[in-house]
Amino acid sequence: MLLEVRSLTKRFGGLEALKSVDIGIEGGEIVGLIGPNGAGKTTLFNCITGFHWADEGSISFDGKDITKLSPPSICRMGICRTFQVVKPFGKMTVLDNVMVGAFSRASSTKEARDRSLEVLNFVGLAERKDQQARELTIADRKRLELARALATGPRLLLLDEVMGGLRPVEVKEMVALIRRINESGVTLLVIEHIMSAIMSVSDRIVVLNYGQKIAEGTPSEVARDPVVIKAYLGEDEARA
Ligand SMILES: Nc1ncnc2c1ncn2[C@@H]1O[C@H](COP(=O)(O)OP(=O)(O)OP(=O)(O)O)[C@@H](O)[C@H]1O
Ligand SMILES: [Mg+2]
Repeated sequence: MLLEVRSLTKRFGGLEALKSVDIGIEGGEIVGLIGPNGAGKTTLFNCITGFHWADEGSISFDGKDITKLSPPSICRMGICRTFQVVKPFGKMTVLDNVMVGAFSRASSTKEARDRSLEVLNFVGLAERKDQQARELTIADRKRLELARALATGPRLLLLDEVMGGLRPVEVKEMVALIRRINESGVTLLVIEHIMSAIMSVSDRIVVLNYGQKIAEGTPSEVARDPVVIKAYLGEDEARA
């Protein structure tokens, strides 16, 4: 098991955002994480990446306990995430934004620059490398967010709604990019509300509702699960 989340509980005052959640991810998988607004999806990412510390439970990565490590240590171990609300450094160029990620591992400016150019090429943003990040379209900002994360050289990449706000054709491109990232050897945990996209890209899906894991299985198993349909998908989605 590459990532093992055991009995994880996270409270904010009286609110239990995660209630004894268990999730295991094997190396090489693409796992989808779905559930209604406020279900605890982003909170789980925050706990895995050390932005929040869980109140109970444990997280291990590649057999090592990372429950109480800091975000930089967790990043250096090979877990990186994107943010639901993308926050590029607007006045910096696209290349410089990606270099910020690359410096977490690179030992020289040249190495960071080379790594960043390679990643920009991979995500299809090479032609925009000298533009200011704030000039990018939403779709390109999402790609930039991905590039910045990839530049850290992750083994496990956590994507928080990288397809939100995209047009259907851009969603398709993003699905293709996620598959290519996976083929390059990166394991992925992907939060997404666009059902057609998450169902097509995931090997397995985990469903959260009010902080609890209510289902887990292949996309088709989850889409047919009455508990998931009632909590999240609705009848229309289940028929689609
Ligand atoms: N830093 C925080 N302080 C207090 N409450 C928080 C904090 N972060 C999240 N919460 C609460 O925890 C619950 C889970 O929030 P979270 O952001 O994890 O949901 P989500 O599944 O990512 O939802 P969405 O699909 O809307 O992004 C919500 O009730 C939210 O208000
Ligand atoms: Mg969220």
